[in-house]
Amino acid sequence: MRTLIRHVLARTEPLDEVLVRGWVRTRRDSKTFSFIELNDGSCLANVQIIADANLPGYGEISRVTTGAALEVRGHLVASLGQGQKWEIQATTFRVIGTAPDDYPLQKKGHSPEFLRSIAHLRPRTNLFGCVFRVRSRMAWSIHRFFQDRGFVYVHTPIITTSDCEGAGEMFRLVTEAPEQPAASSGTTRSVQTDAEFFGRPAYLTVSGQLEGESFACGLGDIYTFGPTFRAENSHTARHAAEFWMVEPEMAFCDLEGDIALAEELVVHLVREALEHCAEDLDFFQRFVDKQLVERLRFVAERPFARVAYGEAIEILRASGRCFDYPVEHGVNLQSEHERYLCEEHFRSPVTVRDYPAAIKPFYMRRNDDRNTVAAFDLLAPRVGELIGGSQREERLEVLTETMLAHGLSPEDYGWYLDLRRYGSMPHAGFGLGFERFLMFVTGVANIRDVIPFPRTAGQAEF
Ligand code: 4AD
Ligand code: MG
Repeated sequence: MRTLIRHVLARTEPLDEVLVRGWVRTRRDSKTFSFIELNDGSCLANVQIIADANLPGYGEISRVTTGAALEVRGHLVASLGQGQKWEIQATTFRVIGTAPDDYPLQKKGHSPEFLRSIAHLRPRTNLFGCVFRVRSRMAWSIHRFFQDRGFVYVHTPIITTSDCEGAGEMFRLVTEAPEQPAASSGTTRSVQTDAEFFGRPAYLTVSGQLEGESFACGLGDIYTFGPTFRAENSHTARHAAEFWMVEPEMAFCDLEGDIALAEELVVHLVREALEHCAEDLDFFQRFVDKQLVERLRFVAERPFARVAYGEAIEILRASGRCFDYPVEHGVNLQSEHERYLCEEHFRSPVTVRDYPAAIKPFYMRRNDDRNTVAAFDLLAPRVGELIGGSQREERLEVLTETMLAHGLSPEDYGWYLDLRRYGSMPHAGFGLGFERFLMFVTGVANIRDVIPFPRTAGQAEF
């Protein structure tokens, strides 16, 4: 059985026999032996291998090139060289798959833009190894956070007929079925509309919230964690057409409880990363963002700032800043405003609450002032909006009225209104953009570099 390099390097005692498999990062030859750096993805570090020129089969060493898949058996011994505690003195090695000279990752230090063009090979680089190990750990930590608190994990549908956010940024579905091949011209394809297939227009979901509410109104506290889709034509470093969202929904919960859970989740994940992804974070700290660990420690230890929308507007107006988008009561906060608030004014994550009803979706609970809703956004330094959430409108009449005002037909949402007809109660939830969170916790500045195969406006290769 092969031993993971992570486990090899964590040994406290030498080993008489060890077997590793991985991909060659570099090879250097001297007269009497070769040094090989081998990586298997289990951690950032490589294991150093010494292949003596007297080894049987040493003649194969010229095939041990950067990128080749290699198997090595040998003794694990304390390294006399600098920079590593252990090395493997090979007794045999075998090239499993060669990599010719045109292997694109020969040199160190490729730009992220170049690496995006070879997204299928970038898991073999240091940066993307670190990013995707952290992504995996954070996904697991999200499940643990909710499961430990008794939340039920619900798989909300990906195909939906409702527009949760009401922003009209949905991908609509068509079906494409092969027709009977025409006599000579091979296969032709026919496009069937969604209306024919489902009996009504159907879309890729922008959020699992509405279906999540249905389950919260029966199972109590639930969460969904899955892919969501937005046909926003925004060419920014923070928007993707396909991204993952974590959406808890809690019965008998108000905005206060909702905000408290959002803050607790962010702190939990940051602490998990500091504790369990230390080697990867150290890499980001050295090569991506020099302030990363300091910022994460700060977030893990201090309470977040909280402010009402009206106060946030006052702070922005008093800042003396000349923003590209002028600040007035009633406007939606733009990313430059969000970043000013958390990076310069509060210097910490901040939740902004009680937004004007006019700029928010139909389902948010109307406050007693009639003009604002019980909604919040959690803003974080460098990424801006990390979480958006709200208490939901549980009063049937108010909800029906708001739907009409938003141009939605209550008949289309009969099932959603039923939740208010039968056993309605205060409930609340939020959505955390998983990739936005990963940008925050790794310091990586572009959302395309925290998604295995990014889909953004103009880009869906691989
Ligand atoms: O603020 P949003 O639109 O909220 C909702 O969808 C609610 N239904 C969530 C809920 O209450 N259950 O999106 C939630 C989060 C944002 O705060 C942001 O982090 C992320 O999803 N997000 C995006 N991430 C990447 N690319 C995009 N195009 C995103 N749009 C939103
Ligand atoms: Mg939002």
